[in-house]
Amino acid sequence: MQITIQHLTKEYRMGKETVRALKGVTLDIEKGEMIALIGRSGSGKSTLLQLIGGLDTPTSGSVAVNGKELGKMKDRERSTYRNNTIGFVFQFFYLQPYLTISQNVQIPLIFQGVEKNTREQSAKEALETVGLGDMLQRLPNQLSGGQMQRVAIARALVHKPEIVLADEPTGNLDEKTGDEILELIKKLNKEFNTTFIIVTHDSHVASQADRIIQLADGQIVTTNA
Ligand SMILES: Nc1ncnc2c1ncn2[C@@H]1O[C@H](COP(=O)(O)OP(=O)(O)OP(=O)(O)O)[C@@H](O)[C@H]1O
Ligand SMILES: [Mg+2]
Repeated sequence: MQITIQHLTKEYRMGKETVRALKGVTLDIEKGEMIALIGRSGSGKSTLLQLIGGLDTPTSGSVAVNGKELGKMKDRERSTYRNNTIGFVFQFFYLQPYLTISQNVQIPLIFQGVEKNTREQSAKEALETVGLGDMLQRLPNQLSGGQMQRVAIARALVHKPEIVLADEPTGNLDEKTGDEILELIKKLNKEFNTTFIIVTHDSHVASQADRIIQLADGQIVTTNA
C-alpha cells in the first residue's frame, strides 16, 4: 500500500473552543489510484489533504507513505518528502504574479536545488504536457483562468511526484475547461501511474475516479469502487 492512514484525528484549538476537523479516519490508497474526495463544506477534506501532504501534523493517529510514518520523520525529512514525493494543486493556484509561467513552474525544482538549464527544460516539458508550451514567457495575469489552473498543474507535476494532492482543481472553471483539466489529470494518471487525490464538488469529476471517498463531519461515510 502506498498510503496508509490510521485512526487519524485533527483538532484545531481556538481559544476555549476546539474544532474536531477529523474524527478517526482510516484509509488505504494504492499507487496509481485516482481518488475523488467529496463531502460538504467543513467536512474535513482540505484538512485530510494537508495531513497526507505533511503540511500539518495530526492530533492523533498516523499517515504512512511508502511504509514511512510522516509523524516519525524529522522536520528536514518531512520537508524533503513534501518537495519530492508530493505535488500540490491548490484551489486558488497561488501563482507568483511577477514571475513568468516558466519561472512559476520551476519553483519546486529550485527547492530541490536543480540547476538552471535543467530547470528550464523540465518546466518547458511540463508546460508542453498541459498544452502551454508556447506561453513560457507570459505572466500569470496574461492567462485565462483555465490556463492558470493548467500552470498550477504543471508546477505540481514538474518534479514527477508520486502523489498529487489537488484541492478543487476544477473549482473555478467553466464546465468545458474543467473537463479539459480532468482529461489531463486522467492522462497523467495513466502515463506516469501518478496517484491523484482530488477534492471536488463536481459529480462529473467524481464519476471519473477509481474510487469515491465521502467525508461527513470528519469521518468517512462511504467509499465506492
Ligand atoms: N486553521 C484552522 N483553525 C480552526 N479551524 C479550522 C482550521 N482549518 C479548518 N478548520 C475547521 O475544520 C473543519 C474542517 O475544515 P476543512 O477546511 O478541512 O473543510 P473542507 O471539507 O475542506 O471544506 P470546504 O469544502 O469548505 O473547503 C471546519 O469546521 C473548519 O472550520
Ligand atoms: Mg477545503
